Formats: sequence, structure tokens, C-alpha cells
Amino acid sequence: MIEMSPLCIDLFCGLGGWSEVFLAEGWDVVGFDIERHRYGSERYPGQLVLQDVLTIHGSQFRNADCIVASPPCQRYSYMAMPWSRAKREIQWQEWERDSPFGNFTLNDLFNACFRIQREASEAAGRHIPLVVENVVGAQRWVGRAAWHHGSFYLWGDVPALMPHVFKFLKQPGRNEGVKQGGSGPEWFDKALDERRKEAGTKAGGDWFGTYADQKADGTISPGRLYSSHSDSRKAVSAMIAKIPFELASYVARYYKPCPIDLESSRRGAIREI
Ligand SMILES: C[S@@+](CC[C@H](N)C(=O)[O-])C[C@H]1O[C@@H](n2cnc3c(N)ncnc32)[C@H](O)[C@@H]1O
Repeated sequence: MIEMSPLCIDLFCGLGGWSEVFLAEGWDVVGFDIERHRYGSERYPGQLVLQDVLTIHGSQFRNADCIVASPPCQRYSYMAMPWSRAKREIQWQEWERDSPFGNFTLNDLFNACFRIQREASEAAGRHIPLVVENVVGAQRWVGRAAWHHGSFYLWGDVPALMPHVFKFLKQPGRNEGVKQGGSGPEWFDKALDERRKEAGTKAGGDWFGTYADQKADGTISPGRLYSSHSDSRKAVSAMIAKIPFELASYVARYYKPCPIDLESSRRGAIREI
């Protein structure tokens, strides 16, 4: 019998919160993003394809066993803010959506995930599960989420009986359910503080813990690690957006096919990815 690993496609893979855990659970993973994110030792852990998700045709994923996706959330988060500019943006988006002259593109990336799943499933002749993650503020625009884990909201084929409190071991330094949208110095400092609390005080910890602790100690400035302050903000945003370990772990285990299922569903199929 040929040994096969199940295949997961990670759309908008970022730093690979989903991928890291799927790989550890024995999956093959291919990630798609428009950018190669690298911050210190933090980088995408799997095979990365630099491609705009809007240009993907899902039929190329007919051999996939699961698709996970985390489209960008900044615009949804922004419009959930209690600011007059955010309220004006809501009115504008509603006009775009409801007017016959409007050009409503807000949900394009979110909707692309479901189009890709449909095309993949049609090409495969079987249903390929898709889990899409985003923020609470997206619900106003895309409909109610099926579940949420902290501030990580989930749509699509969200596994039944998702536990309220995950019992899996938490991985030190990984995001444990705090996700924020925002910008500006106050948000940046608040995000750093939150992450410092999560990372704990361990010495020689992960990149974030080390960086945050050193920054707090005054022994390092963002400018020493990154070419600009905006680079370090970007690094923090990417870390905060990273899918929590226990969430990815639950989905990876839930959808992992047993070897018999995998063999029969793939019989005769050639892996092209
Ligand atoms: C919310 S983050 C993903 C976080 C990721 N799941 C993780 O665990 O690190 C969104 C990602 O979408 C990427 N992105 C934005 N627009 C894109 C597009 N049109 N096609 C592909 N990737 C895109 C961004 O570069 C960013 O890495």
C-alpha cells in the first residue's frame, strides 16, 4: 500500500497558524498568499504559493481533503469600531451593496473561498470541507458565523460539537484566542501588551515573547529588528492574526481521513499539487 498523507489547502495562509498544526498532525499542506511574511524566525512553515486567491480555480484542489481560509479582516474590523468615520464607511458599503449603480466588492475574498470549494468539490466528485475564519464584525456583511473560538469566528463546514473550551494542550506563545483589528500607536502598544501577557515571562521564548520582553525592558527597539516601525507593526498584526493552536488542532484532527478512506477517495487520482 502506498503511504499517502491527506492534503490541506491553506488560503490566505499568512504566518501559517493553520498550516503549522496540520503539518504536525501529518497532513501535507500548500499555502496561498500574496505575500511571503517573514518576521525574525517567524515565517510560513510549508510549501507557499504566492498567488492572489481571486485568481485561483478550485478544480486544481480536487485532491484536497480539507480547505482552510482566513481572508483579511481589517475592513470588517474597522467598520465595527465606534468611530464616525467607520459609520460613514458602513453607509458607503451599504449603498454599494443596495444601489443598482453600486459596485460591492467588500466580500469578494470571503466569497472566493466558497467558490473555490465548489469548484474543487465538483472536480473531485465529492464534498471537500471548507472552514473559513474571520472576525465578529464580518457577520454584518456575510451572515452569522457557525461558531467562534474567542475572537476567531468560523463559517463553512465547522465541525459539529466544537467544544466550548478546548481541552487540548496549549502551545506556549501561540495565540490563545485574542484577535484584534486596529491601527495607530495605542492599538499597537495594547496589542503588544496583550501578547506579552499571553506569551508569559519565559526567558528565551518564542520570537514574540523575546521581542516584547526586550522592548519592555528597553533593551531593544523595533528599529533594531525591523527597517521601520511599520514593519514591526505588520509583524505584530501577523502574529495576532495567527490561528490559535487548539482551534487548528481540533479542525485538523476532525477532518483527517483514515487511511482506508483516503486510499479509496484517491484511487486512480494523480496528485498534482
Ligand atoms: C488574516 S491573515 C491570515 C492569517 C493566517 N491564517 C495565520 O494563521 O497566520 C490574511 C492574509 O491574507 C493575505 N492576503 C490578502 N489579500 C490576499 C489575496 N488577494 N490573495 C492571497 N492572500 C491575500 C495577507 O497577506 C495575509 O497574510
